[in-house]
Amino acid sequence: MITPENCRIGEYIREFRAQTLPVSEEQKRRIDCLYETGMLERKDFAGLIEEREETSAAYIAAKARERQREHFGTKVYLRGLIEFSNICASNCLYCGIRRDNAKAVRYRLGEEAILDCCRAGYGFGFRTFVLQSGEDPWWTDERICSLIQRIRGEFPDCAITLSIGEKTKESYRSYYEAGADRYLLRHETASPELYRRLHPPAQTLQDRIRCLHDLKEIGYQIGAGMMVEAPGQTTEDLVRDLFFLKELQPDMIGIGPFIPHSDTPFGNEKAGSVDLTLFLLSVLRLMFPKVLLPATTALGTVDPRGREKGILAGANVIMPNLSPGDVRGKYLLYDNKICTGDDPEKCSRCMELRMKSIGYAISEERGDAPGWSRRV
Ligand code: SAM
Ligand code: FES
Repeated sequence: MITPENCRIGEYIREFRAQTLPVSEEQKRRIDCLYETGMLERKDFAGLIEEREETSAAYIAAKARERQREHFGTKVYLRGLIEFSNICASNCLYCGIRRDNAKAVRYRLGEEAILDCCRAGYGFGFRTFVLQSGEDPWWTDERICSLIQRIRGEFPDCAITLSIGEKTKESYRSYYEAGADRYLLRHETASPELYRRLHPPAQTLQDRIRCLHDLKEIGYQIGAGMMVEAPGQTTEDLVRDLFFLKELQPDMIGIGPFIPHSDTPFGNEKAGSVDLTLFLLSVLRLMFPKVLLPATTALGTVDPRGREKGILAGANVIMPNLSPGDVRGKYLLYDNKICTGDDPEKCSRCMELRMKSIGYAISEERGDAPGWSRRV
């Protein structure tokens, strides 16, 4: 928890500025090219990632901040995450709330409890609510639409983001018509072989991609993204992710390190690193100057200052938790997840101070993708 007493203003900016050692010619060439053109050839992306070290990480972060400042100034957009059910019919091998984790303590919030989260969040300045859950069959399309309509009616100036997994195009359309604006569905990995390793056979990359295209066609602002250093992931897989994202052109990109959960088949795997996640955030900011890019909770879990470092690497969104205190500790996607004890008010204050400590300020705008407008 950051408080006015322990908030060390500017420390991280100074730390980044201090890293002014010369960057190698080859890395500089790649980063400058990415900065100018937004793209690299496959071999250059691979070289850039594999040959990264402190100086090129500092250099690419500085370039990413330039792009971030050009488009967003020092604004950081706030998304209030409401984790409304951890009941899940899917069985992703990495995920702590997967169907087969019999040790997970299951819960589901009802419509009223979710609206209370929105009301509290609105009071703290949140203008986007992100409704996230496992793939919970109790939440039928009818119930989801009724929930969206109530939130839309009570908070007409807020954006509603859904993150509830794979559905049919008709379902996605009904949520959009009810008033949802955005949809987060990470592609997780664009490599079919790695996707197969991370998911049971019934879940396919093809389906995931079909969903993303459907969502885009309907008119949502869409968010894709991958887990960094998921078990078995290679540099080549990451390069595939970058090419996939370039083609998809999402409005939001969520990336975070893989973190093991002890009650999953990947419980003994190694967590993804902070340095590679930060480096990729900078790469993404240079590839997509206007994209909405969160510094995720997973990043804050592997490093206590991970979210601040994420913003300084080019991210421009943070997603504090608005879920009620009594269920937060149950939405455990991975071990040691942060912010499971604090209440929403403390979380908001903490975020405000964290951002201030690095020279950024939380914006109370909705923070839509530049140029996006709702199709009626
Ligand atoms: N059910 C929805 C879906 O699958 O898109 C939303 C919930 S799901 C838990 C949200 C995201 O959590 C996933 O897209 C995945 O990237 C991330 N996640 C799950 N387990 C994780 C882990 N062990 N480490 C890091 N991220 C994880
Ligand atoms: Fe369902 Fe992760 S396996 S949310």
